[in-house]
Amino acid sequence: MEGKRVSAMPVVSYASVSDSPPMVAVSSVPSHYTCKLVLEAGCFSLCILDRDHASAIARLASVSGSKVEDKLADAGLRYTSGEVVKAPLIQGSSAALECTLVAKRRFGDHLLLVGEVKAASASEAFDGFWDFAKYRPLLYTGWRDGLTTLPGA
Ligand SMILES: Cc1cc2nc3c(=O)[nH]c(=O)nc-3n(C[C@H](O)[C@H](O)[C@H](O)COP(=O)(O)O)c2cc1C
Repeated sequence: MEGKRVSAMPVVSYASVSDSPPMVAVSSVPSHYTCKLVLEAGCFSLCILDRDHASAIARLASVSGSKVEDKLADAGLRYTSGEVVKAPLIQGSSAALECTLVAKRRFGDHLLLVGEVKAASASEAFDGFWDFAKYRPLLYTGWRDGLTTLPGA
């Protein structure tokens, strides 16, 4: 989120990097608009969404943030600004991390973005562990015509 521009992208490259201080990393194609906004803003958020948001996530993967002023609104997602960092937090997230960008390093054709977690929140579906009666995770098995979930999963 920078000025009026808002972008977001699905990532599978999430990794936990450190417990103390808490740090996470995401690997991004540098030309992704969301990556450019993260570098400009010096912060980002990671929002975990459940299967109810599959079509919105597919939309986020299909349109570049450079083409729309507010990519989250374009995908039908509501958000608030982070409480600690100036990055959007998607309403209805099962969990969210607010991060400051503390390091970046190029590996091959991707840029590894390392963030220090400054705030974290989770829905009632997480109480030390995930309650899968309340949290229905999306399982990414590849991209064909969009994202889908197992029937009844
Ligand atoms: C499930 C899924 C996971 C993805 N994971 C990553 C990722 O880890 N890193 C990355 O650079 N792109 C990833 N992508 C691709 C970006 O999300 C996609 O290119 C997006 O449209 C980039 O948007 P932007 O240009 O607005 O930032 C993923 C796509 C999907 C569908």
